[in-house]
Amino acid sequence: MAWVKAASVAELPDGNAVLGVEAAGRRVALARVDGEVYAFADNCSHRDFPLSVGEVDAASCTVTCEWHGAAFDLRTGEPTCPPAFRPIAVYPAKVEDGAVWIEVS
Ligand code: FES
Repeated sequence: MAWVKAASVAELPDGNAVLGVEAAGRRVALARVDGEVYAFADNCSHRDFPLSVGEVDAASCTVTCEWHGAAFDLRTGEPTCPPAFRPIAVYPAKVEDGAVWIEVS
């Protein structure tokens, strides 16, 4: 396991936005909710659509896929509404030295 720099904090506003990045050779989506940073696979488990064009719901701490409306818990990756039934990968994330870091294997 290694921590890799994924983005600067300035690129990731707190709220509904999702930022898609390339980190450690994989597509990763980042979101910040109430100051907490979340990192997850940038592909919906339903039809592999990028979740970085989706929208975060801060109240439920979920991201909704723009294509068919599946939602995933940012903390666990578990789907919270169909049509997705498989979870997405989530990665440990932290803010340090003005950057967002994620831990990947
Ligand atoms: S591709 Fe995401 S809900 Fe269908």
